Amino acid sequence: MQKILVTGGAGYIGSHTVVELQQSGYDVVIVDDLSNSATSVLKGIEKITGIIPEFEQLDCTDYAGLDGVFIKHKDIAAVIHFAASKAVGESVAKPLKYYRNNLMSLINVLEVMQKHGVDNIVFSSSCTVYGQPDELPVSERAPRKPAESPYGNTKQICEDMIVDAVKSGAKVKASLLRYFNPIGAHPSAEIGELPLGVPQNLIPFVTQTAAGIRAKLSVFGNDYNTPDGSCIRDYINVVDLAKAHVIAVKRLLENKSKKPVEVFNLGTGRGLSVLEVVKTFEKVTGVKLNHEIVGRRAGDIEQVWANPDFANRELGWKAVETIEDTLASAWKWQQKLMR
Ligand code: UD1
Repeated sequence: MQKILVTGGAGYIGSHTVVELQQSGYDVVIVDDLSNSATSVLKGIEKITGIIPEFEQLDCTDYAGLDGVFIKHKDIAAVIHFAASKAVGESVAKPLKYYRNNLMSLINVLEVMQKHGVDNIVFSSSCTVYGQPDELPVSERAPRKPAESPYGNTKQICEDMIVDAVKSGAKVKASLLRYFNPIGAHPSAEIGELPLGVPQNLIPFVTQTAAGIRAKLSVFGNDYNTPDGSCIRDYINVVDLAKAHVIAVKRLLENKSKKPVEVFNLGTGRGLSVLEVVKTFEKVTGVKLNHEIVGRRAGDIEQVWANPDFANRELGWKAVETIEDTLASAWKWQQKLMR
C-alpha cells in the first residue's frame, strides 16, 4: 500500500480526502496543527472507514518537525498539501500571518520532499487566482488576475513556487487543483465543515441560521449584473472534490501526467446565485431561512463558474452530486453538530 502524506488532513477538504484515499486502498499520514480543526475529526474518519489515520500534530512552518515526519514515515510516496489559512477577510487584516503560514509551509514541504526523494505533490489552489474572469465559464487557460486579497496572493505565489521549482530541474511533479466553492459534508454526517466562530462562508452561515444559531443570513448584494442581482458561484460537493484528489495523486504516482505541472479546475460547470442557493436550501430541507439583502461585501467577485472539461477529460473525473443532495448533506451535518 502506498503512503500519502496529507497536510491539513484534519481540515474540511482534507478530512474528506483522507476518507476517499483510505477507501481507495492508500495508507494515510495526516499532518495538522489543529489550528482550525479538532481530533474529533480523526474519530469521524475512523467511523466511516474503520481505519484510524496516522496523525502527527505539527505546524508545517516547522521545518525540523516536518523533516522528522519524513524520517519516521520512510515510505511516503506523495504529498497532498492542504495546510493553509483560508479566511479572505482575516488575510486582509493579518497579511503577514497568511504569508508566513501559507508560503513557509509550502517551502518546507517542497524542501523536505526533495531531501527525502519524494517527487509527487498535489496542491490545494483556488479559483480565486482567476479574479473576475473575462470569459465564463473559466478554463485553465484563462489568465490569472492580480489577487484581491493576501489569501488569494498566497495561492498564486504557491502555484508559482511549484512551477519555478519544476523549472529549476527539481525532481518534482505536481498537480495544481483549483477549487471553486466546496460545500456539503460526507453523507454519513461523521465529518463536515467545522467553522470556528462566526462563519465567513455562505453555506455554514446558511445552516447555522436554519438551526437558529444565527438570527439572519445577510445576502451580500442584489445589484450585481446577474439574473437575480446576487453573486454567482460554482458550488461543488466536497466528496466529489475529495475524489478528484485521489485520481490526481494516482495519476502522479503512475506517471500518467502529460507535463511536470498540471493545472485542473475542479467545479461542476454550473453557476448558482446566492438567492438560488437560499431557495434550494429551503426547498430541500423544508426550513424557512431568515435572510435579508444587505450591501455588497468588499472584494467579492460578481460571478465565476468553472469550465471543468479538462479535468473531466484528463482525470476521467466529474462532479456528480446534485446541489439538492449536497445542501441536504450540509444540513444533516449541522443537525448532527447540534446533538
Ligand atoms: C472565498 C474565496 C475563495 C476561498 C474561499 C475560502 C474569493 C473570490 N473567493 O470564496 O478563494 O477559497 O472564500 O474561504 O476570494 N455570501 C453571502 N452571505 C454570507 C456569506 C457569503 O451572501 O454570509 C455570498 C458571497 O457574497 C458570495 C457567496 O455567498 O457571493 C459565496 O461566498 P463564500 O462562501 O464566502 O465564498 P467565496 O467568497 O466565493
